Formats: sequence, structure tokens, C-alpha cells
Amino acid sequence: MKSTTLLRDYLQIQLLKLKKSDVQEQKNKSEMIIQHYLKISKADLYFKDISLDQKSIIDLNNMFNSLLVNTPVQHIIEETFFYENSFITPPGIFIPRPETELLVDSAIDFISSTTRKLRILDLCTGSGCIVLSIAKKFPENDFIGIDKSSFAIQVAKKNQKLLKIDSVEFLKADMFNFEINNIDLLLCNPPYLAKKEMKNLEESVKNHDPESALTDYDDGTSYYKFLISNFTSFINKNGIMLIELPFSPVAKDIELFNKKFNANNSTFLKDLEGKNRVIKIY
Ligand SMILES: C[S@@+](CC[C@H](N)C(=O)[O-])C[C@H]1O[C@@H](n2cnc3c(N)ncnc32)[C@H](O)[C@@H]1O
Repeated sequence: MKSTTLLRDYLQIQLLKLKKSDVQEQKNKSEMIIQHYLKISKADLYFKDISLDQKSIIDLNNMFNSLLVNTPVQHIIEETFFYENSFITPPGIFIPRPETELLVDSAIDFISSTTRKLRILDLCTGSGCIVLSIAKKFPENDFIGIDKSSFAIQVAKKNQKLLKIDSVEFLKADMFNFEINNIDLLLCNPPYLAKKEMKNLEESVKNHDPESALTDYDDGTSYYKFLISNFTSFINKNGIMLIELPFSPVAKDIELFNKKFNANNSTFLKDLEGKNRVIKIY
């Protein structure tokens, strides 16, 4: 007689295995994997009698084995929800973080306050999550997203297609060698960890986010210093830069550096915990 495995029972077995590991948010991540793989709601997971076939068990086992070794769930299901949309985020791509949504909100405030068509540049675009979230809401502007990783550009273009957006041009380029001018709104979530901070990083970040997305291999301030010191040549009159800030002492150095450039005004935008998370330069 052929035995069947009920999904509910399968989940309990996986949760028991995970209990012995140091994986955080085990139930939530397990539900995400199952819901994503079977394309079912949470209610279906718990209230419907769903049986798993052999292939589903093998696929799910592989995914749970990855979870057991602390692979981020966003890499396992190759998807991350950010702002108002889902973005594909396969291994090798920086996983969009919820704190970056403040950058999107700040950009939306700025765009909403103007009536002209804007030229908007997203440096270090990664999955394209920032620029695509904005372009989806304000498609009538011109958008460019650049990243030095060709894989990131490939993924950003896929995300653009999935979201049915056509106002963004994605280019593979190193921002230090890219011609930047006539920009109304410059956005950037740069690699901002100092090289020496890398060794203290959580394993799940160190082993899964690309190193070149995390550190500037220097003291963490080099991307900021480059952008701030070129503000006047990059940005149009009445234009602004919005750059995400690290939550670390490096933020103070960036603030001091900006003060030396009297031509630039700046303010900080705070996250829900009251921490300075975005620097607005204008
Ligand atoms: C912190 S991630 C941000 C990704 C995305 N914008 C987000 O917020 O999720 C930084 C990204 O910058 C890219 N990058 C690093 N150095 C760069 C450079 N010099 N020029 C262009 N892109 C760069 C990395 O490949 C990575 O995708």
C-alpha cells in the first residue's frame, strides 16, 4: 500500500529538526518555503488536507536542508517582498532590507513635491528594488539603475520585466567611472561596512550576501565621500541626493565630511526607531 504524507505532518517534522538548530524565526521561514513552493495560502497549509507527492517531498527536503544551514529564506525561495512588490533575489544578489524602504518613501516625497519630469539615477542598484519600486508609481520620469555586477543587472532587468515597467534603463557600470550629470534625484544604498567590520558580521550575512555589496574594502565612507564631494557637478539645480546610512559610528564621519562642504545642505531622515537612516543632500 502506498503511504501518503500530509503537508501538516511534514511541516511538524521539519520544525522538530529545526528546533535543534540556531535558525531564527523557524516557523515563519518554514511557512514561507512551503507557501512559496506549493503556491498556497497559510489557511490552506493548516486547514486543508494536502498530501505531498514524492517529487514535492524531495524538492522541499532540499529547501529545508538549505534552511538548516542558515541559508537566507529569500535566497531559498529566490524572492523578497520589498515596499509593495516581490523581487527575485537568487543567491549572489544582495537581499533587499526593510530599512531601505525609508529611502523609497523619501524619494516618493521628493517626486510628489515636483511637477516636472525628473532624471532619476539609482547607483548600486542590486536587484533594482529601489528604482523599480519608484518607477512603478511614477513611470513618467526617466530612470537609470547601475551596478558593477553583471549578475545584478541581469536580475534587475528580470525584475523590471516581471513588474511590467519600461521606464528604467539598467546598465552595468562602476559608479566611480560612470559619467554622472544632469540628475534631479540620485539614490544610493552603497556598500558601507568598513573592511575591519567584516570579520564580526553574522554568519548568515557574511556567507550569503556578496562581499562587494557589503564593504568598500576601506573605512566604509568612500562611496559617501565621492558622492558628497561631487554633488554640484552631478546634481541639477533643485535636485537632491538620498543615500542610505549605516547604523554605525561611520555615520558620524559622513556627517562631519558633509559639513566641510558648505555648498551642500543636508538633513537626516529617521527610521521608526528614531535612528538616522538616510542622508538627504540638497
Ligand atoms: C548594499 S547593495 C544595495 C543593493 C540594492 N540597491 C538594495 O538596496 O537592496 C550594494 C550594491 O552595490 C553594488 N556595487 C558595489 N560597488 C559598486 C560600484 N563601485 N559601482 C556600482 N555598483 C557597485 C554591488 O554589486 C551591490 O549590488
